[in-house]
Amino acid sequence: MNKPIIRFDNFSIENPDSDRPLIAPLNLTLPPYRTLALVGESGSGKTLLGRSILGLLPEQLNTTGNIYFQDKKIISVTGTPTVDDKQKTNEIATLEIRGKAVSFIMQNAINAFDPLFSLQDQFCETLQKHTALSYRQALIKAQQSVSKVKLSSALLKRLPSQLSGGQLQRMMLALTFALEPELVIADEPTSALDSLTQFELLPLFKQMAKERSMIFITHDLALVQELADDIAVLKRGEIVEFRAKSILFSHPQHPYTQYLLAMRAKLNQPFARLVRKKQ
Ligand SMILES: Nc1ncnc2c1ncn2[C@@H]1O[C@H](COP(=O)(O)OP(=O)(O)OP(=O)(O)O)[C@@H](O)[C@H]1O
Ligand SMILES: [Mg+2]
Repeated sequence: MNKPIIRFDNFSIENPDSDRPLIAPLNLTLPPYRTLALVGESGSGKTLLGRSILGLLPEQLNTTGNIYFQDKKIISVTGTPTVDDKQKTNEIATLEIRGKAVSFIMQNAINAFDPLFSLQDQFCETLQKHTALSYRQALIKAQQSVSKVKLSSALLKRLPSQLSGGQLQRMMLALTFALEPELVIADEPTSALDSLTQFELLPLFKQMAKERSMIFITHDLALVQELADDIAVLKRGEIVEFRAKSILFSHPQHPYTQYLLAMRAKLNQPFARLVRKKQ
């Protein structure tokens, strides 16, 4: 049996300044090679949950419980963590899983790159950090990967600011393909892009979803329809429903899920129209 890719064990996130937990104690097991769509209203905790897997939570927040990556504990803090605990947690997450085993694709790819260095240098440096490749081998891999996402490898010579948002997001996808992580966490990776660019990126995300485990955070139920195997619906820091997509779409149980689905046609008209037209 394959190990779960991620398991949250009574995991919660609290803000010391607030009475209500940002993530209420959560137990959730994600089987490997599936794509989980994490949906829910703004402020429900989707980004916090995604970032917690990488130990990338804001300093001032406290966590309790554990997160396991392939049965390996990656967060182990109970009670109010001391500064030392926090450092330890971050180090474990950073050293062992961030980058190579788990890749994070954020909304604005420009924030993922250093503005002062060419994409090629950053691409190769990242690949070399996580693999045994020489600079030359990393460059070849970068060029192959960039052509896989249908970009010209000449763009690698440029600075991040010299690419469009869509091209940068493709670069991010190319880097993720090259790193071959076990798990990809994508946090609204297309929501800063226009509908046409979103549509053009869809096959790449589909390919990624097929090859790896993925957590796809989105507001866009048309994308969920295309990509997800399972859906978790988050509301005010609680998972109110977690089911296979086919069941959740046909038989939503929770009133909030029913509300989201009822809004779906309204919210995603431009994108859904494009998908229908091209199919
Ligand atoms: N550094 C922080 N300090 C205190 N509260 C925070 C911090 N970061 C996030 N929060 C709070 O945690 C809650 C969840 O935030 P999060 O960013 O995870 O929401 P989200 O579901 O990703 O929303 P969106 O769809 O708008 O991206 C929000 O109420 C937010 O205000
Ligand atoms: Mg968010």
